[in-house]
Amino acid sequence: MADLSVVVDGLKLPNPFVIGSGPPGTNANVIGKAFDENWGAVICKTVSLDASKVVNVAPRYARMRATGTKEVIGWQNIELISDRSFEVWEDEFKKIKDKYPDRILIASIMEECNKDAWVELVERCQACGVDAFELNFSCPHGMPERKMGAAMGQDPELLEEVCGWVNGAATIPVWAKMTPNITHIVDPARASLKGGCEGIAAINTILSVMSVNLETLRPEPTVEGHSVPGGYSCKAVRPIALRMVMELATMMYGDGKSEGEFKDRSLSAIGGVESGEDAAQFILLGASTVQVCTGVMIHGYKMAGRMCEELNAFMDKHGFETIEDFRGHSLQYFTTHMDLVQRQKVAKAEKKAVREGMVTKDTAWEGDKFVEQSNKLVSNDD
Ligand SMILES: Cc1cc2nc3c(=O)[nH]c(=O)nc-3n(C[C@H](O)[C@H](O)[C@H](O)COP(=O)(O)O)c2cc1C
Repeated sequence: MADLSVVVDGLKLPNPFVIGSGPPGTNANVIGKAFDENWGAVICKTVSLDASKVVNVAPRYARMRATGTKEVIGWQNIELISDRSFEVWEDEFKKIKDKYPDRILIASIMEECNKDAWVELVERCQACGVDAFELNFSCPHGMPERKMGAAMGQDPELLEEVCGWVNGAATIPVWAKMTPNITHIVDPARASLKGGCEGIAAINTILSVMSVNLETLRPEPTVEGHSVPGGYSCKAVRPIALRMVMELATMMYGDGKSEGEFKDRSLSAIGGVESGEDAAQFILLGASTVQVCTGVMIHGYKMAGRMCEELNAFMDKHGFETIEDFRGHSLQYFTTHMDLVQRQKVAKAEKKAVREGMVTKDTAWEGDKFVEQSNKLVSNDD
């Protein structure tokens, strides 16, 4: 039986599975359910000081199913951050920490570009006993209209400044959550780490239009006949998340060929995780923890137990005793396209030589064919 526990930025988690910010961490009741089902940590739905500015619409989700099946593979939302008052959240943070003092509760926070507001938010959350922060620099819809979320996350200079404000006030670990709606995700991540953050979380949802209804000719999800681009999540985004996590880990930790720039910082992976095998892939690419949001909305909180079993089976199969035993292992296998071509050329030449009976490795020498093998290696016979 492998040891699934992780210590990340001084926080001790029983397993690497973390509830990602969203509906599965939207009030004390469901956060308690997540701890009861043994999730490693919970990140609450993003909170801000003034919830009165947050007005949600319904419906606000749209799903994509695999052709001919009921299986959900893609999920779009146009949901905003929490619409519950910050005072209620303060009360619930305290109650959760009273009931689950040893479990890790991470406050996802977001504010406008105003130092006093960020500092007040940090100090008031900290006073409630939360264990860490995740800064939501990544909500792709709604909030950018107020220069919040992804609008901040796409501007590395601004990000470094805001992270500096937060880290000036924070006495607990801070993760910056990245938007995938950017060409080079390592630029804002580097800025956040320079701004003092302990870790990076990636990815948030991908800006999308789910579909257009061919009867009504209206885009989905439709609210009063109209829509707005939203955030795409679930299985379908996993390959994009894996690529971005790989790029972030390579920048932070190096890949055996290049030196990492932030070897002591942490990486929390998010995007389409629904199984222990999905999580293992993100850990192989450098993540210490793996977040799940849409998966919980589809499968429920009990999936944590199944995912732990699956991750355990993977680790046992390979003889890994701890998460650190394989974290980042697969980064070394990424290279350039030019190098792939070169490797293929060498392998082809080797195969050809073997086919022609040439000895290319000392282990290939055979007593009965020794003279014949020697002759084949001679180049100047006439
Ligand atoms: C309905 C919904 C609401 C979300 N709300 C938030 C939020 O308030 N704050 C945040 O940082 N991310 C939010 N997210 C993004 C998720 O935390 C996560 O980054 C993204 O959905 C990809 O992971 P997944 O495929 O496991 O859902 C939300 C996602 C969904 C589906």
